[in-house]
Amino acid sequence: MKKTIVTGGAGFIGSHTCVELLAAGIEPVIVDDLRNSEERVLDGLEKITGRKPVIHRIDCTDARAMDLVFATERPDSVIHFAADKAVGESVRDPLKYYHNNIGSLVTLLRVMADHQVKDLVFSSSCTVYGEGDKLPITEDSPTGAAASPYGYTKVVCEQLLRDVCAADPALRTVMLRYFNPIGAHPSAQIGELPIGVPNNLVPFITQAAAGLRKQLTVFGNDYPTRDGSCIRDYIHVVDLAKAHVLALQWINRQSGAVCEVFNLGTGQGSTVLEAVNTFEAVNGVKVPYAIGPRRAGDVMAIYADTAKSLRLLGWRTELTLADALRDAWRWQLALGK
Ligand code: UFG
Repeated sequence: MKKTIVTGGAGFIGSHTCVELLAAGIEPVIVDDLRNSEERVLDGLEKITGRKPVIHRIDCTDARAMDLVFATERPDSVIHFAADKAVGESVRDPLKYYHNNIGSLVTLLRVMADHQVKDLVFSSSCTVYGEGDKLPITEDSPTGAAASPYGYTKVVCEQLLRDVCAADPALRTVMLRYFNPIGAHPSAQIGELPIGVPNNLVPFITQAAAGLRKQLTVFGNDYPTRDGSCIRDYIHVVDLAKAHVLALQWINRQSGAVCEVFNLGTGQGSTVLEAVNTFEAVNGVKVPYAIGPRRAGDVMAIYADTAKSLRLLGWRTELTLADALRDAWRWQLALGK
């Protein structure tokens, strides 16, 4: 069985990707210090897959510890999810973000080189497009105008990977630009575990519907969109996870150098109010909400052109916004609070 190191494998997208790797006959080895996750994710993975993945609880910027993991596990490839991801926190503490997100990638690439591991899938974000120049947004749109230090760490990591690929054509890397991942595994065994007050829309919706938050604030209804609220491309985390397996398999089929970037979205934009209404309709529960001011740094509208992912990876989403919002609610109920 091929073996893949999954950094951040106990996190939201990482854990769902472990499920899909196992389904495809690839063994995930998790590297995660659980700073932004919990032990019980591993139990959830065992319930879904019948197997409890190996986990190494280390910080990915720790070169010695990473070296030991590679020496012990002898992986064929790496999927690098581990990163800090709170946009607001990155504005308050940019050094934490530059240190952790860029430092972990630099460390990882050095250790991969030392152990002759050549295949890497990297978690990027549509945040690299900033406002974007046209919709739907294609991979060749300009990047570099990110709205936060978090966003800039993704811009820098992408450039870093291009530079390293140019210097070492044997390195084969795919960068995946996620749009807005939401939902949870339909089994409700794994899902998102937001710490404190959620920043992201869907965990806030589920907590408001569960009565844990007084109400959702819709950040602005005066944008020039169909109902005045912002437009995003919400993608079910299971669809997103599957794309990682296809990306690894695609890298494997290539003969020469690989340094490629792909959008991962549905191609459909939904407004905040459409997401709220769909949630209410599919789950039969009310979401208390009020309209508030715009949130600083929000772009008005962004959604993916997914033609390249379909053409090269053979990937397309299979689940809808309603599926994702149903699964997000099931997960909230399973959390029991
Ligand atoms: N929103 C609300 N109320 C909330 C939370 C969000 O109205 O309480 C709205 C936002 O204004 C936005 C939409 O819901 O229009 C989605 O917001 P999220 O915070 O869920 O997601 P973002 O699109 O802002 O953030 C995502 C990723 C980030 C990434 C960013 C770049 O989560 O990692 O895209 O655009 F940096």
